[in-house]
Amino acid sequence: MADKEYIIYTDGACSGNPGPGGWGAVIMHGGSVQEISGKADETTNQRMELQAAVEALRTVPPGSRVKLHSDSAYLVNCFNQGWMKRWLRNGWRNSKGNQVENQDLWKQLLELSETNTVEWIKVKGHSSDQLNQRCDQLASEAIQPDKNSSSREENTPPGIEYRESLGKNRGRKTKRLGLLTGGGDCPGLNAVIRAVVKGAENKYNIESVGFNNGFKGLVENDAALLEDLAVSGILNRGGTILGTSNRDNPFDFKPGGSDYLETGEDRSADAVENLNKWDIDGLVVIGGDGSLLLAHRFSELGVPIIGIPKTIDNDLPATDLTFGFDSAVTTATEAIDKIHTTAESHHRVMVVEVMGRHAGWIALQAGMAGGGDIILIPELPFEYSYIVAKIMERRQRGKKFSIIVVAEGAFPAGEEPIYQQKGDVKRLGGIGLLVSREIEKRTNMESRATVLGHLQRGGSPTAFDRVLATRFGVKAVDLFQNGRFNEMVCLRGNQVESVALDQAVKGTKRVDPDSEQVLTALAVGTSFGHPL
Ligand code: F6P
Repeated sequence: MADKEYIIYTDGACSGNPGPGGWGAVIMHGGSVQEISGKADETTNQRMELQAAVEALRTVPPGSRVKLHSDSAYLVNCFNQGWMKRWLRNGWRNSKGNQVENQDLWKQLLELSETNTVEWIKVKGHSSDQLNQRCDQLASEAIQPDKNSSSREENTPPGIEYRESLGKNRGRKTKRLGLLTGGGDCPGLNAVIRAVVKGAENKYNIESVGFNNGFKGLVENDAALLEDLAVSGILNRGGTILGTSNRDNPFDFKPGGSDYLETGEDRSADAVENLNKWDIDGLVVIGGDGSLLLAHRFSELGVPIIGIPKTIDNDLPATDLTFGFDSAVTTATEAIDKIHTTAESHHRVMVVEVMGRHAGWIALQAGMAGGGDIILIPELPFEYSYIVAKIMERRQRGKKFSIIVVAEGAFPAGEEPIYQQKGDVKRLGGIGLLVSREIEKRTNMESRATVLGHLQRGGSPTAFDRVLATRFGVKAVDLFQNGRFNEMVCLRGNQVESVALDQAVKGTKRVDPDSEQVLTALAVGTSFGHPL
């Protein structure tokens, strides 16, 4: 090791949360190892971690090159993710406009990191890292039991429900992940929650805290520890035991998720504060495009994030498949099968409207699986003349009925998608009825429309989705344990992998009209209402 190179490990420890606290550090230089420790001046997790780093950096001569290892994501992110620069610009105010806490220590750290070249490195933590375990031990030894301290319940930070296990687990000092489900629900969410909680506990002894109702629970600190029992028996259940929301945006938060307020409040700082209150080392966000975008914004604020993609729409470009999609396609296929028999009996043109806002994946696959004669998707604006030609061609062949599967986001060439208005909110829907009416007019055949709507989001996940959700959940826990934050798990071919979150939130995966799937559908005589 060169003359001025130091490797430092630091840690803070307390006997409860909060309770008497200490700090410890191991400093390695050349062949020598120095161990230092002390009692923390105040017992908050952040102060202990900061004090450990300050005291350790004080031992190195100015101009040193230091690799400083800490298990405090907050501390490491502060330097690596630009928080410090922002605080300096904003006069030591955080994103909520409040004065940054523990400024005295942050300022000392800043000075010490400027007189040296410091590389800040997040380490796994006590359960698996021997040097950090040693720091923890040093810090614990430095703690003098404080007989006059009041009970844990009285000292629990406001907003945190006291639970027996909380104190117990903090004594063990395991790592802790936060978990939320955001956006529209889909089959498989409970399977992934189960996989995260069980995988975290069984593989790495990591605790899980579930935030209720998506980002709303994060802002309002509506959360609870999730243990094995809480996630037992939910693998095959639809919905999400955590609840979800597709309106609550912490950066533009409207009380009650109101659709009618024009502007909300930026409550992101509250969300970050709540993560700190719960002592969360990283947040697992299970969501679609909207929720992952919010997760990405939190990662830019320094919150360590792991994304898990879900959506029945299957429209996220960074993953070959999302769980929920197979279940939705299965539900839609079963519905088309049922529509088939009644269409045939009555010699009608039956239109089945399925979900899929910007991408026609559900329509394409359920249409192919259910033998839809005409499939209409947003990627291929349709023309009625081609639909009518297909229906007539079938009639001539003796097929007096036809099935049209239409994605809610599909629209006629030269027109716009059809929206329903509810208050200020615009939602897609209505194209099925419109197509059905137009077909009656143009063919003189009876036509009916069925909108499958939220049926596609409900019910038990298919075996495929249960397995995919379980694989995604355990992969997320592996990423967490290895400090691989700001990544999203994904499926590539048949392998579960991960991708950078900032890449994962870009764009929409749409059906390629030249793809093998579309060409296959065309080959068996399916029409897309388009001159393909
Ligand atoms: O993104 C999933 C999805 O089911 C879309 O297919 C659909 O347009 C949308 O959510 C409906 O959302 P909600 O009715 O919950 O607002």
